[in-house]
Amino acid sequence: MMTDNSSVARPAVVYEKRGDVALAIIDHPPVNALSLAVRKGLLEALDSAARDDGVRAVVILCRGKTFVAGADIKEFGRPMEPPFFGEVIDRLDAFAKPVIAAIHGNALGGGLELALACHWRIAAPSARVGLPEVKLGTLPGAGGTQRLPRLVGLELALKMIVEGRPIGAAEALKNGAIDAIASGDLEADAIAFAREALSRENPLRRARDVTVAPDPILFERAEADARKRQRGAEAPLKCIEAVRLATELPFDEAAKREYALCIALLQSPQSKALRHIFAAEREVAKPPAAMAGAAPRPVKTAAVIGPGVMGAGIAICLLDAGFPVSLLGRSSASLESARARIGKIYDSGVTRGTLTAEQKADRLGRLKTTQSYDDLGDADLIIEAVDEDMAVKREVFRALDRVAKRGAVIATNTSFLDVDALARETGRPGDVAGMHFFNPANVMRLLENVRGAQTSDDVAATLMDVGKRLGKTSVLIGACEGFVGNRMLSKRSREALFMMEEGATPWRIDKALYDFGFPLGPHALADMAGLDIVLATRRARYDRLTPRERACDIIEQLVARGRLGQKSGAGYYKYDANRKSSPDPEVEQLLRDHAKARGIVPRAFDDAEIVERCVYAMVNEGAKLIEEGVVRRPHEIDIVWTHGFGFPAHKGGPMFYADQIGLPRVRDALRRYATTVGAEYFEPSPLIVRLADKGAGFYSNG
Ligand code: 3HC
Repeated sequence: MMTDNSSVARPAVVYEKRGDVALAIIDHPPVNALSLAVRKGLLEALDSAARDDGVRAVVILCRGKTFVAGADIKEFGRPMEPPFFGEVIDRLDAFAKPVIAAIHGNALGGGLELALACHWRIAAPSARVGLPEVKLGTLPGAGGTQRLPRLVGLELALKMIVEGRPIGAAEALKNGAIDAIASGDLEADAIAFAREALSRENPLRRARDVTVAPDPILFERAEADARKRQRGAEAPLKCIEAVRLATELPFDEAAKREYALCIALLQSPQSKALRHIFAAEREVAKPPAAMAGAAPRPVKTAAVIGPGVMGAGIAICLLDAGFPVSLLGRSSASLESARARIGKIYDSGVTRGTLTAEQKADRLGRLKTTQSYDDLGDADLIIEAVDEDMAVKREVFRALDRVAKRGAVIATNTSFLDVDALARETGRPGDVAGMHFFNPANVMRLLENVRGAQTSDDVAATLMDVGKRLGKTSVLIGACEGFVGNRMLSKRSREALFMMEEGATPWRIDKALYDFGFPLGPHALADMAGLDIVLATRRARYDRLTPRERACDIIEQLVARGRLGQKSGAGYYKYDANRKSSPDPEVEQLLRDHAKARGIVPRAFDDAEIVERCVYAMVNEGAKLIEEGVVRRPHEIDIVWTHGFGFPAHKGGPMFYADQIGLPRVRDALRRYATTVGAEYFEPSPLIVRLADKGAGFYSNG
């Protein structure tokens, strides 16, 4: 048995024998990452197997829920202690007895690289294999970009490495990434496979011995695709470069270059940002310490109020997760059209092959529609998704209070209305909360779970539990107008309007933010949503706008001219029959006239000012959210913005980005804009001033 010097009490790798087959059993929770203890343990196990003449083959397998999920991400950014992972790989390469990887759960990153360096691979039917390093802003650094293309061909390897998406066991077997799927017990099947491998013609088959022919067109296509789909990200292009080496250089030379590329990327700001997002995603899923011990209420049945686009989308999320769902609407026509909308979305899933006809039938079979609140008495969770009109919502909450069973969780999907006021409409404010889905609810992964002032701990825990069951990235936040996302967005929108008034065209602003990394500029986005919708939101908040914000009535003017966005053929932009946008001189004239009427002399803007005014305004608001306790820490904000609002993940979210820029710089810029735009808009939050003054950041203590 190997001993382990790390703080983990039990050995990370256990060496056992089953007759003539040795087992190297990795047992290193939570995900068997390749930490120092595992690397050491594997080398020792291989040494033991090499020394023992009674051992003819070796099986590497894992205890716990998964095979090796990769290098230990927690070791990144620190000096790595030997033995390095490369030594384990080299040892496998030179090993004189067949080594078989027995995969269950996930073989990811270094985990798959370990398996690829073995001579053979067998997997449980539910296993997945992949090289997701690109999602951490780096690339496989232990031969993954060299061995995978040799086994599965360039096309699939490029797809898996550049997009970082794992494949299932069946696809892996079909394409040669693995050699067999276990039909019974994985360990027993792997041992049997090992014995059978000994009698094969080439028991020591190595991926490295295969050659891959160059395919310049494929690489060109992959590059064009990566530039388009992962705009601004460095790692995907470096992944392609590394795979290309497999077609150009001898294996060892290419592997050396791959490692150098991997290490260089690991030190890049983009990789740091993406690793921050990986950690933040897991951090926000954990309950706050104050809520420890609050168990989620059991939720078996759900109801949705409001058969509109949001209501139907939310119903799909619930149906997909296996809940029976009652959808309540005021008329049978609206309910029928919601059912048709849901059916159409499932049809397209069947056409695309992401859903079987049986799954579609099962999901639709669990959907009940009703016009009567009395039918909701069984629901454990009720989500209200009616129009954003407080009077209508109050009425719904009063009705729900009458019919909902004791202990049912009642959530509103409002995007900016007062959750506490709705809770007060009921005699059970502790059971009321917000579940803010994003449109289209069945596609967008973000879920803002909103705790009202009186929401009880177990209800908050229930929201997070349901979010997880729906496959959402959920954040738990406090109640305030617009919550995290829309409240910060409103500051960006304000600055965009102000800058238009001061001389920047909508397309100038859009381009600067697009180049920053947002998938769409705010005006292109507004045109997509519909300017009438944007105006309705503005009107709902009108009494809270400053005099300058009210006077900056560009949206009103556009809507008054019938410019409602894409749907009317013109909004900020004009659109051709294919909805292709182009700048519109009429809008430029409108802005010139507006500025003149407001006594503002238009001026030129550079990218830096546009980005700073939009993004720093958001960061300043984010700091206020932390100060007010709406969020516990910056993590929630970064997750909301990267998962729901298109903030480029490789910049880590607005708060991480501000730290990278340096809070003293952000503070100084805010002070500058406080002078030029107005203190009521840009006065730096006390938190930013305090952190900047002591050289700290949102995530660091200085
Ligand atoms: N290293 C260290 N810790 C890891 C880890 C890793 N590679 N992968 C996951 N963890 C930790 C998580 O941080 C979490 O810790 P916490 O409980 O303290 O928050 C815990 O393991 C459980 O993780 P999840 O909550 O994500 O558990 P799930 O069951 O939902 O998912 C998983 C499991 C699919 C394995 C998922 O964790 C995952 O995708 N991990 C990352 C895989 C990856 O990116 N591997 C590549 C690493 S880079 C590399 O290998 C470089 C190589 O080329 C040399």
